[in-house]
Amino acid sequence: MALTQSEQKTLAAKTAVDTLIEQKKIFSGMKIGLGTGSTALPAVKRLSERIEDGTLHDIKAVVTSFQTENYCKDLGIPVYTLNDREIDGQLDLAIDGADEIDPENHLIKGGGAAHLLEKIVEYNSKELVIVADESKSVAHVGTKFPLPVEIVPGARRAVEKELKKLGAKCVLREGVRKCGPVITDNGNQILDCTWESPVNPVEMEDKIDRITGVVEVGFFTKLKPTAFIAHADGSVEIR
Ligand code: A5P
Repeated sequence: MALTQSEQKTLAAKTAVDTLIEQKKIFSGMKIGLGTGSTALPAVKRLSERIEDGTLHDIKAVVTSFQTENYCKDLGIPVYTLNDREIDGQLDLAIDGADEIDPENHLIKGGGAAHLLEKIVEYNSKELVIVADESKSVAHVGTKFPLPVEIVPGARRAVEKELKKLGAKCVLREGVRKCGPVITDNGNQILDCTWESPVNPVEMEDKIDRITGVVEVGFFTKLKPTAFIAHADGSVEIR
């Protein structure tokens, strides 16, 4: 029977953590960045199981959102910040989900509005591992899933104008069961951007980041992540 999307997420997460432990890329005493969302959390859960079964100890986690912080605390995983002396601004490895991933492993992230902290954590990690279900694999990033751009609230109209010049159509992300815009974990707002035809994500990441009032864009193109992508037939592609 074909796996559901949620089963694929759990499979990708569990396979990644177990494989990385086997390959000694996840090891006791390491500093690990933990992502946000419905695929990253099963990876956090698996990590906690491997701590509980005695495989791992002295793991120092840096989280990317309140969601992951709460989850780690509930599971008893010690949480640090990048600024703590024990972490010193540098992680061994980070593991996270993605909204879209292209054949070169360029990513869109921020569907959960956490991409600012995710980027800070992941761009300061020696290695990035992405876990995803097969729906996330696309030929071109940025045409289907809207690209999240975190902005300073007072700069919204000015930033919208600049994004329009880059060919984007922008929508301010609205809260669910909360009136008005989504407010990120950092007190900012999100513009979700789409293009009619594919753009170059490597160039666009830089161009959007240069707009005054933009805090961070959801294109992640400067890393060479390893991706674990689970399929409905129960296989996990590693690329
Ligand atoms: C959070 O803002 C994101 O970057 C998530 O990593 C991304 O949205 C993937 O989320 P799911 O695993 O829930 O699809």
